[in-house]
Amino acid sequence: MEQETILILDFGGQYKQLIARRVRECQVYSEILPHTTPVAELRARAPKGIILTGGPSSVYAPGAPTCSAELFDLGVPVLGICYGAQLMAYRLGGRVQPADTSEYGRTDLSLAADSPLFSDVPPSTTCWMSHTDRITALPLGFRATAHTPNCPVAAMEDSSRRLYAVQFHPEVVHTPEGEAMLRRFVRDICGCQGAWQMASFAQTEIKALRDKVGQKRVLLALSGGVDSSVTAALLSRAIGKQLTCVFVDHGLLRKNESEQVKAIFGPGGDFNLDFVGVDARERFFGALKGVVDPEQKRKIIGEQFIRTFEETANRLGEMHFFAQGTIYPDVVESGAGSDGAVIKSHHNVGGLPKGIRFEGIVEPLRMLFKDEVRLLGLELGLPRALVYRQPFPGPGLGVRIAGEVTPEKVRMVQEADAIFQEELSRFGVDTGAGQFFAALTNLRSVGVMGDHRTYDYAVALRAVLTSDYMTATAARLPYDLLEACMTRIVNTVPGVNRVLYDLTSKPPATIELE
Ligand code: XMP
Repeated sequence: MEQETILILDFGGQYKQLIARRVRECQVYSEILPHTTPVAELRARAPKGIILTGGPSSVYAPGAPTCSAELFDLGVPVLGICYGAQLMAYRLGGRVQPADTSEYGRTDLSLAADSPLFSDVPPSTTCWMSHTDRITALPLGFRATAHTPNCPVAAMEDSSRRLYAVQFHPEVVHTPEGEAMLRRFVRDICGCQGAWQMASFAQTEIKALRDKVGQKRVLLALSGGVDSSVTAALLSRAIGKQLTCVFVDHGLLRKNESEQVKAIFGPGGDFNLDFVGVDARERFFGALKGVVDPEQKRKIIGEQFIRTFEETANRLGEMHFFAQGTIYPDVVESGAGSDGAVIKSHHNVGGLPKGIRFEGIVEPLRMLFKDEVRLLGLELGLPRALVYRQPFPGPGLGVRIAGEVTPEKVRMVQEADAIFQEELSRFGVDTGAGQFFAALTNLRSVGVMGDHRTYDYAVALRAVLTSDYMTATAARLPYDLLEACMTRIVNTVPGVNRVLYDLTSKPPATIELE
């Protein structure tokens, strides 16, 4: 069966990845493409439908992102969201103007019950609005199908041409009926059956990787984390021994992690990949000495990582492709999309090592969310314990130690974290639901141990529940668990005399400390 695809054209909106995710939740494959993708290419991909995302621009501003009016003549259903809705109106001859009052946040919404998009939805509901401009005149053939107190055209449609537009954001949870609306669009209006699952993604991707790589060789940065492990499994299924995995031990790993990675992927291990382990601990600690700025630390770790790679790769002989376990939230948060702001420079995104010539980069998980990566890992036969292990950032403990990174601090955070993990498991906490770890603050404070004054560090326990890592809330851990951790940590980890519990959600905090 041909794969059903919904294409999402990106006009710079911050929720584009949520749209992709909602479509995939309808078991339909979705892909985000730049708004500049030529119509011929869109046609060639034979999508079942097209969604135009929101974006920060005004359609009439010079240089505003646009699309060809031909897009609306492809004969496939189109749904415009926010900016996408305004663009549809504008391109088809309607009018868009600044509103007297911009709408932001939760807003009452009245819907036309006979719209195919809203037939499963009560006529009065709420929606999430975020706009300054609004549609003030409908294009020919369209009718308004929703309004809010300040927005007479909160939705419009020409159902004979299967063109739909909503000013609000159906993809966010603050639009309670949004999921039902998107499902109506994908399943009923676009006519998708919904057969897309990880099994089909794996098959398609394995074939795509074989086509791309041919007989050539691929070098993978394997950290032993979920993402790079799934990448390794996928690549090894696709190209077998043409894959070489390089594991750099930068000294910023969790307690015993380096040994575990070697045991699983190394020679004689369960996967028995072509595995090259590099002990780069001294090099990383040397480069990080005295550095306190978070972004600089990330840059240094990233750079050292790449350089270690380059040196290793040069010893390995010719490698044609460079593979990475980049996943979709990394791409979005690094501002790699068209208009996203840079929040943190995730070191595993951002291109090829400069010192070696690769023909290209291979990032087969680039379009997947974390929970999808896990499903793919299971599909590929990776053990559940590995697939559901807690994600660990590329810069490792470097971003879990506030301020300067030293081997002593690494030891403190490793020991504290190991205790935290043991207690979590003893108390039966499901850590698959988020990220649970110890971090080291740069707060030093006075304590008393026996008859001695101490002046030591404070460990912060961080436990967040999240499914997409874009937003997170602090877990309500049992008090006895926290207390047990505190007692064990202050009694057994030299250099630590205080244990704090970090209650902050994301946003405003990020999951990692730095
Ligand atoms: P933040 O701290 O940005 O983390 O809320 C979101 C998710 O990303 C992970 N993370 C990283 N992963 N390289 C990675 O591969 C990085 O530089 C990096 N920084 C954060 C973090 O552990 C969480 O899962």
